[in-house]
Amino acid sequence: MATESRTPRTGTETRDALAFPPGFLWGTATAAYQIEGAADEDGRTPSIWDTYSHTPGRVRNGDTGDTACDHYHLWRDDVGLMADLGVGAYRFSVSWPRVQPTGSGPASAKGLDFYSRLVDELLDKGIKPVVTLYHWDLPQELEDAGGWPERDTAHRFAEYAGLVADALGDRVTMWTTLNEPWCSAFLGYGSGVHAPGRTDQVDALRAAHHLNLAHGLGTGVLRDRLPAGAQTSVTLNIHHVRSLTDSDADRDAARRIDGVANRVFTGPMLRGEYPEDVLRDTAHLTDWSFVRDGDTEAIHQPIDFLGVNYYSPTLVSAASGPGSHNADGHGVSEHSPWPGGDDVAFHQSPGSTTAMGWAVDPSGLHELLLRVKGDFPGLPMVITENGAAFDDYVNPEGRVNDPERISYLHGHLAAVHRAIEDGADVRGYFLWSLLDNFEWGYGYSKRFGAVYVDYATRRRIPKESFRWYAKVVRDGALPP
Ligand code: NOJ
Repeated sequence: MATESRTPRTGTETRDALAFPPGFLWGTATAAYQIEGAADEDGRTPSIWDTYSHTPGRVRNGDTGDTACDHYHLWRDDVGLMADLGVGAYRFSVSWPRVQPTGSGPASAKGLDFYSRLVDELLDKGIKPVVTLYHWDLPQELEDAGGWPERDTAHRFAEYAGLVADALGDRVTMWTTLNEPWCSAFLGYGSGVHAPGRTDQVDALRAAHHLNLAHGLGTGVLRDRLPAGAQTSVTLNIHHVRSLTDSDADRDAARRIDGVANRVFTGPMLRGEYPEDVLRDTAHLTDWSFVRDGDTEAIHQPIDFLGVNYYSPTLVSAASGPGSHNADGHGVSEHSPWPGGDDVAFHQSPGSTTAMGWAVDPSGLHELLLRVKGDFPGLPMVITENGAAFDDYVNPEGRVNDPERISYLHGHLAAVHRAIEDGADVRGYFLWSLLDNFEWGYGYSKRFGAVYVDYATRRRIPKESFRWYAKVVRDGALPP
């Protein structure tokens, strides 16, 4: 699976700053439900994450996104923080139920205005807005009609994409259709650890296909409606799957997980077909008759860059019996998010871990970028997310020291630098996240921010990593 390729070390790496190419885009990222709050203001209706988080037992501590970081009211301050950080770009998502409350029909002017003001403020500060259309907050009304397992949801998404493109396309030039559709399909409809919390593997596969279709139809709409020069993309959490040993059985387990984690998306999106082995591995579940004639062509749209989110590698082996799915890093469920992976076991990768329990392994990012380069030559990449949660706290001096995050970021940026030296066409890097925020099933218990958020007061306190990253951005280089 992994392509191991190393440039011989010269020994200077430890002394010299690592300069990134001119024009490299330095950014930070958030998502609507994780930061905005104002869940029922200005006509916003519930999304599947409102429903899910309000269902007892779903989210740790019963946390919800009702108020979150209150970014809906504090957005101007937050753009101010980004200006202090010095980033050239900000990746945020648009809340579908805020701008099209019923998931179909006309747009909400108030909802669109919020994003329009945000975009203006960003541009005013010299920060390029990068819009993600779908970061998991499906309008509940569309879930009530069947959600992503239903084909119509893809058509609704394309319509919604057009509304946002019409409103922001005069000022936003970088667009992403979906964020991590693997999570939407397989955690949302397979293991149920994400909204809407359903647990049916066939529904998960149907959801994956309709998310693919949504991407294809949405990309077509964006291309039709946006001015020339606008860039379109999709963000995938391509799993860097490693097999525990070189045995045929373990390598086959890695192939299967790579299939349902990665190639079920990259196949149709970037090659125009579902991989034969994925269809075969899941044939006992479905005949895939929900894929209609012309769908794969519709999904296979040219894109300008691939968004890559990376946190940690995935280590698997063949299991003699039903595998344990508790170490795959995606939350504990008695239901597997891996159709066709029933006899695969997941293992903790070696090394230190973050507060998520995820192994810190920058070599996985380097290998992943080279793999994508090899698999899809000529496709530029942007790291749309990378970062780490640690148990940050405000010390008696009122500061948040987070040396582990700095070390994580340093290691991963060095890996990106090395991948670029090895020929990977990586155009930018977005630190996840600007702010501590609602970490889905983990609620507010996990802090990924470069800025600490005191949820009781909404006060923002830039962490040490904020100052560290600001210098990296300013220098366009990683300190030795
Ligand atoms: C991926 C998701 O896109 C983001 O919403 C999440 O907070 C981070 N990973 C960390 O888990």
